[in-house]
Amino acid sequence: MNYNKKTVKDIDVKGKKVLLRCDFNVPMAKDGSGVITDDKRIRAALPTIQYLLDQGAAVIACSHMGKPKGEVKPELSLKPVAVRLGELLGKDIIMAADVVGEDAQAKAAALQPGQVLLLENTRFEAGETKNDPALAKAMAGMAEVYVSDAFGAVHRAHASTAGVADYLPAVSGFLIQKELDFIGGALANPKRPLVAILGGSKVSSKIGVINNLLEIADTIIIGGGMAYTFSAAQGGAVGDSLLEEDWKDYSLEMIQKAKDKGVKLLLPVDTVIADAFAPDASSKVVKAGEIPDGWQGLDIGPETVKLYCDAVADAGTVIWNGPMGVFEFDQFAVGTKAVAEALSKTNATTIIGGGDSAAAVQQLGYADKMSHISTGGGASLEFMEGKELPGVACLLDA
Ligand code: 3PG
Repeated sequence: MNYNKKTVKDIDVKGKKVLLRCDFNVPMAKDGSGVITDDKRIRAALPTIQYLLDQGAAVIACSHMGKPKGEVKPELSLKPVAVRLGELLGKDIIMAADVVGEDAQAKAAALQPGQVLLLENTRFEAGETKNDPALAKAMAGMAEVYVSDAFGAVHRAHASTAGVADYLPAVSGFLIQKELDFIGGALANPKRPLVAILGGSKVSSKIGVINNLLEIADTIIIGGGMAYTFSAAQGGAVGDSLLEEDWKDYSLEMIQKAKDKGVKLLLPVDTVIADAFAPDASSKVVKAGEIPDGWQGLDIGPETVKLYCDAVADAGTVIWNGPMGVFEFDQFAVGTKAVAEALSKTNATTIIGGGDSAAAVQQLGYADKMSHISTGGGASLEFMEGKELPGVACLLDA
C-alpha cells in the first residue's frame, strides 16, 4: 500500500467548504448522561480542524459513533461531541439534526469560512456502512474538498470514509499523516532491530499481525493470554489458563517459521498464576508450562520480564500491541508495567497500537514517554497485518 498521500498542506482550502471525516467514536458514560469519558479522539482531531479554520475554510465535520445500524438512536447522537469540541476549540459548533437531510443541507449551505458544522452520526444512515454511492454523493455535494483524519475508521470502506473520495479531491489530515508516518515507517523502513511485542488474550485475533511481522521484525515477543496456547502447543501444562485448542498447530507453525526466517521469537519462561480470575486471588510464580490444574496464568513472571526488557533495551524500533497480563488487576499488572517502563527508557522509536495497549500505557502513566500511541484499535491492527486500508487508499497520492 502506498502511504505517501497528499495532505491538507498540499491543497488550497481558502474560502472552501471542507468535509472532514473524524473518528469521534468516543467512549460515553453508561448511564446515558451524555458524558464523554475519554476525549482523546476529539483532541487528536484539533490540529487539522484548527489548521483548516486558520486557512479560511468552512469545516463540515462528520463521524460515526457506535453501531446504530442505520437507525436514529438518540443515545448515539454526536451532540455531546459538538459541546466538547466547542469547548476545546473555544468556539460554538453548529450541530446538524441529520447527516444529509434538510437540516444538514441548509446549515452546510449557509456555513461561512471560520465556522464548524458537525453532522449527525453517519451511521444513522443505512447507506453509510454499505458504502452507498448515493449517500457518498449527497455528503460530497455539501463540500468542495474531502479531508480524512479518521484514522480509527480507515479500515472501514464506508460512504464517509472511502465513498466520498469518488466525488471530491481527497487528502489526509495531520492525524492520519502522523499514524502513516509512524506505523507505516516502522513497517516499511524501521530503524533496526525492530522488536514487536504482541500480547492480549487470543492468538486467533493476532494471526494476521504475527504472520506479517514475521516477515519484517528481528524479534517477536509473545505475552498475555495467547502465550498459553503457544505453551500448550509445545506440550506444556497450562492448567485453567486461556487456551485456544484450535490454534495450537498454528502456534507451532509460527515457531517453525520464525526459526526458518531467523526471527528471534521470545516466549515466556515463567508465569504468575492465580487460583481465580480475581484481583485478590492467591498467586505464585511457576515455570512456563508447569501450571497446575485449578490455577491460571494471569501475568508474565519476573524472569520473563527481565528477558523482555533486555530485548527492548537495545531496539531501534518497538511496536507493541496487546498487554502482557491482566493489567486491570494491580496484582497482575507487573509485567505490562515493566514492559511499559522499559519502553519509556529505551532510545528506540516506540509505537503503541490502539485499544488495550494504549489503555494500559495510559492507565499505568507512561503515555507521554512513547513516540506514538495510535488512535486506532482495529485500524492499527489491520495496518500491522499489512492489509490495504480503504480510508487511506482512497486519498490522492502525493
Ligand atoms: C474504533 O473505535 O475502533 C473505530 O471508531 C471504528 O469503529 P467500528 O469498529 O465500529 O467500525
